[in-house]
Amino acid sequence: MTQPGNFSDHQLAIYAQGMFGGGKPSWTTNLARLEEYARQKLSPEAFGYIVPSAGDNATTRANRAAFDRYRIVPRMLRGRAERSYRTTVLGTDMPAPVMIAPLGVQNLAHPDGELATARAAAALGLTYVHSTQASRSFEEVAEAAGDAPRWYQLYWPTDDELCLSFLQRAKENGFSVLVLTVDTVLLGYRPADLDRGYLPFLAGDGIANYLTDPVFRSRLAKPPEEDMTAAALQFAQVFPHAGLSWERLPWLREHWDGPIVIKGIQSVADAKAAADAGMDGIVVSNHGGRQVDGAIAALDALGPIAEAVGDELTVLFDSGIRTGSDVVKALALGAKAVLIGRPFAYGLALGGQAGVEHVLRCLLAEFDLTMALSGLSMDDLEPGILATAG
Ligand SMILES: Cc1cc2nc3c(=O)[nH]c(=O)nc-3n(C[C@H](O)[C@H](O)[C@H](O)COP(=O)(O)O)c2cc1C
Repeated sequence: MTQPGNFSDHQLAIYAQGMFGGGKPSWTTNLARLEEYARQKLSPEAFGYIVPSAGDNATTRANRAAFDRYRIVPRMLRGRAERSYRTTVLGTDMPAPVMIAPLGVQNLAHPDGELATARAAAALGLTYVHSTQASRSFEEVAEAAGDAPRWYQLYWPTDDELCLSFLQRAKENGFSVLVLTVDTVLLGYRPADLDRGYLPFLAGDGIANYLTDPVFRSRLAKPPEEDMTAAALQFAQVFPHAGLSWERLPWLREHWDGPIVIKGIQSVADAKAAADAGMDGIVVSNHGGRQVDGAIAALDALGPIAEAVGDELTVLFDSGIRTGSDVVKALALGAKAVLIGRPFAYGLALGGQAGVEHVLRCLLAEFDLTMALSGLSMDDLEPGILATAG
C-alpha cells in the first residue's frame, strides 16, 4: 500500500526505470490525454456511454473551464520534506483525500470491470464506491476488495422492498457509508447513446446487483438466466425513481445505521435541505455533466456550498477532476475529499487493474508534487491560496 507522503516516489521510480532499467511506463503519464488513448481501446458503444455527456456537453465544458479559471499561487521555502495527506472522512481512514467515484457498467471498459477497480483501490488504500448500476454484485466486489474501505452508492428503486434488500446486502458486505445519488431521478438526454439506440442496462449490463437480488428475482416469472429480456424490462420498472423527494429521507435514515451522503447537490438551498434532513454529507457534483446540459460548473457551486454548510456537513466533490492540481483546487474551495470519475475508467480501459493503479498513482504523485511545490500542507487549503484568472 502506498504510504502517505510517498506519492511522488512514483515519479522517481519512472525516471529510474527509464534511465537505469531501460523501460518506459506502459501508458501515458499525461492525465489530460487519457481519454484520447482510451478511445482507441473502447468500442464505439462503450466510448459513447462513458465519455460524452448530456446534450451538447456544455456542462462538461463548464466543469473544465471552472478548473482553468482558478489558479494556485505557489509559496516558496516552506520546508515541505515531510508530507502527509492522511485524513478520516465519515469514519473512513484515507491515505489522501481522494476516492473512486461510483461508475456503473464498468465491464464496458474492461471485462474485469468493478473487480479490477476495487482491487486497484485496495492496493492504494483508497476508498471504492460501489454503484447500484455495477456490472458486478456487492458480494463479488466485497470478495475482490478484501478488507479495503468501501462505500455504497444507492439509486433508490421504486420498489422499497428491493431498496431494503440492497441496503442489507451493502451492510453485510462491509460497505460502510451510504451515498444516495439524487441527480438521476430520470436518465439525462444523452445523444451519443440515443443515436445508437443504446442503453447498456437493457442488454443486461450494469444490473448485476438486481439480477443477484432475492427480492428482484422474486418479481420475475422466470429467472434472468432463462429470460434476460423480461429481467431487463423489470429493471426498467424500478429504475429510475422520478418521484423521489426529500420527504423520503427519514425512511432511509431509519433503515441505514451508518453515515448517509447525498450525491448530486449543486445549490446552497439543497445543501441546506440535506443538512436539515439530518444527512451526514453531500457530494457537490453535476454527475460529470451527464444529467443537465447547461448546468452550473460543479466547481463554481462548491465554494458557496462549502461556506454555507461546511460546518454541519462533510462536503465532498466530483465532476471535472483530471489532474493532481485539480484536486488541490477542489480541496482549497472547501471539499474534504474528492471523487475521481472518468480518468480511472480510462485507466481501466487501457489496462484493467494495472491501468487503474497507474492512473491513481500518477494522479496522487501530481497532487503531492503540486502541494509540495506550492508550499502547502492540508491545513493551508482554503480559497485564499487560489487566484482567479481573467
Ligand atoms: C460512465 C459513467 C457511469 C456513471 N455511473 C454512475 C453511477 O452509477 N452512479 C452515480 O452516482 N454516478 C455515476 N456516474 C457519475 C460519477 O460518479 C461522477 O459523478 C462523475 O464521473 C464525475 O465527473 P467526471 O467523470 O467528469 O470527473 C457515472 C459517470 C460515468 C462517466
